[in-house]
Amino acid sequence: MIRRTLTMFALSTALAACTSGEPAKPIKDYMAQDVQPTAEIYWNAVQFISDESGDHDIEPQTDAEWADVAQAAARLGEIGKELKDPAYSDTRGSGWNDFADGLIKISADAEAAAKAKDPDKVFEVGGTMYSVCSACHEAYPAETPETGADATSTG
Ligand code: HEC
Repeated sequence: MIRRTLTMFALSTALAACTSGEPAKPIKDYMAQDVQPTAEIYWNAVQFISDESGDHDIEPQTDAEWADVAQAAARLGEIGKELKDPAYSDTRGSGWNDFADGLIKISADAEAAAKAKDPDKVFEVGGTMYSVCSACHEAYPAETPETGADATSTG
């Protein structure tokens, strides 16, 4: 007796569906493509500019604009969690996760400031945020430093 089953079909379908689990992108790309643009949404939201034409206060005007700022802050908190993924943290020692925790913590303050629609607070927390980013960068400088090729014209 020969019994045919659909086992092979079922198996191949399962394999085809199993394409998730992409490797984390390199830290440099993650920083440049995800972290920096998200932080810039937050930092650019509130600015105090003084120039020859006077003082210009830039701040979100509408509920939707404030919501975007809050969302960027929340996203930075998620980024802090993603930085603790072993793909990023494994070879870095315990300090790495402390810096990531610092980002998670300041992101919560950042989100609260945006939800309170408090421009001064967003500005202030943005400054602290910058220190949190810089602290990790000082502890973990780029693996491949920029080559300072500075082409100045001669002649
Ligand atoms: C937990 C550590 C950590 C935190 C926190 C962190 N970074 Fe980074 N960042 C790195 C490391 C490591 C590199 C160097 C990557 C490399 O080139 O090897 C880097 C590089 C960068 C770069 C350069 C990317 C490039 O193209 O060379 C930018 C921009 C950047 N980070 C932005 C930020 C911002 C903005 C924040 C805060 C919102 C932040 N980072 C927080 C670890 C961190």
